[in-house]
Amino acid sequence: MEDKILKDIAEQYGTPLYVYDTDKIVSQYEILKKSLPEELGIFYSMKANPLLGLCQLFKKLGSGIEVASSGELYTAVAAGFLPGQIIFTSPGKTREELEFAIEKGIYSINVEAVEEAVLIDELAAQKGKKVKVSVRINPDFDISGSNIKMTGVPTQFGIDGINAEAAFEALGKLANIKVTGIHIYTGTQALNAKNIVLSMEEIIKLSLDLSQRCNFPLEFLNLGGGFGIPYFKDDMPLDMETFAKEFSLVWSRYKERLAGTRVFVESGRFLMAEAGTYLTRILYSKDCKGKKYLVCDGGSNQHASSAFLGRYIRNNFPMHILNRCENEEQVNVTGPLCTPTDIIGQNVTLPRAVAGDVLAIHKSGAYGSTQSPALFLSHPLAAEVQYYRGKTYILRERWGKEDFIKGQKELEFEP
Ligand SMILES: Cc1ncc(COP(=O)(O)O)c(C=O)c1O
Repeated sequence: MEDKILKDIAEQYGTPLYVYDTDKIVSQYEILKKSLPEELGIFYSMKANPLLGLCQLFKKLGSGIEVASSGELYTAVAAGFLPGQIIFTSPGKTREELEFAIEKGIYSINVEAVEEAVLIDELAAQKGKKVKVSVRINPDFDISGSNIKMTGVPTQFGIDGINAEAAFEALGKLANIKVTGIHIYTGTQALNAKNIVLSMEEIIKLSLDLSQRCNFPLEFLNLGGGFGIPYFKDDMPLDMETFAKEFSLVWSRYKERLAGTRVFVESGRFLMAEAGTYLTRILYSKDCKGKKYLVCDGGSNQHASSAFLGRYIRNNFPMHILNRCENEEQVNVTGPLCTPTDIIGQNVTLPRAVAGDVLAIHKSGAYGSTQSPALFLSHPLAAEVQYYRGKTYILRERWGKEDFIKGQKELEFEP
């Protein structure tokens, strides 16, 4: 989005602020959709950005939705998703969350432990229902080149591939659940198309094999995804044309055997990250012991990943100062928090900026406010808005100071 547009939006709504470009979300969705054989569906992984209005956008685009908590399930339902369009994945679903999912009758609860299936069976019996589940497996293979691996290594996710047969046997004995599918999510932020296809082929082979050996119908197969986006200087964008070409070859080999199976991929980052910009205003510019600091009104409390939290490589998100391009200098960009970890740009080269200027951090549409320690130091949550064809629409109002004591109780006794 152009600087002028971002600047106007920052003036209208104030800062800090997340801005999402609708056309970019739509085009990313279309790229993913066009890269897949027409039989395949997409689940939007709302963990990437759970805003109600964005979920509604994905519904309109034809996506299903993958939720990871009862809060997300509630939002997905409020966004208008039908039960048949919702799947639920999480290694730690509580009894209440499972009850909620069973009541809603969602398409699949992705079971991650035999004990979880036993609990679903018990709850289903109480409600007189037969509940459809799929099994999330952690096989021995991973996705080469993915930045965060979720399979092929010990994790809390899914059932260890080595125990899969025994698990299917145990689940087969539970009268109130029906095993209908398999879910494998190998990792996230993969930028090599061929590696994604290789891991998807492995998933298909393993799933067909297990369905045959363990005697359950493969009605549903979730291939995961891990589709990444280039954040940093040396990242090459994921080549979706290569993905489409290579995956269609794989698909042609398996599609007959998968004729009775609904096959999906899931994606959050690829669909959302590039559409989002985080705008934060410079409050003070100062020097300290030979280093220059730009102190902004929003920081790691609202954009933790820009502050390297949860990342092991300290590379800066792409950022620039709106409407400035001259006199570059090296600076540290910080938020307003009283902690030295609140650095959202480290030794970053930016044009000389002054208080009042607005810094734009790009590629911030996924895992932005949702992954941030927003309550730390009680700065109001940023407003979040969506831009569409010259107009801006509010998605989340900025919090006020009063929101911090909402739901809290005053001291009720004399110590
Ligand atoms: C099970 C599962 N599905 C989907 C996703 C979304 O991944 P991404 O945003 O990289 O598409 C994740 C991310 O961690 C995940 O754990």
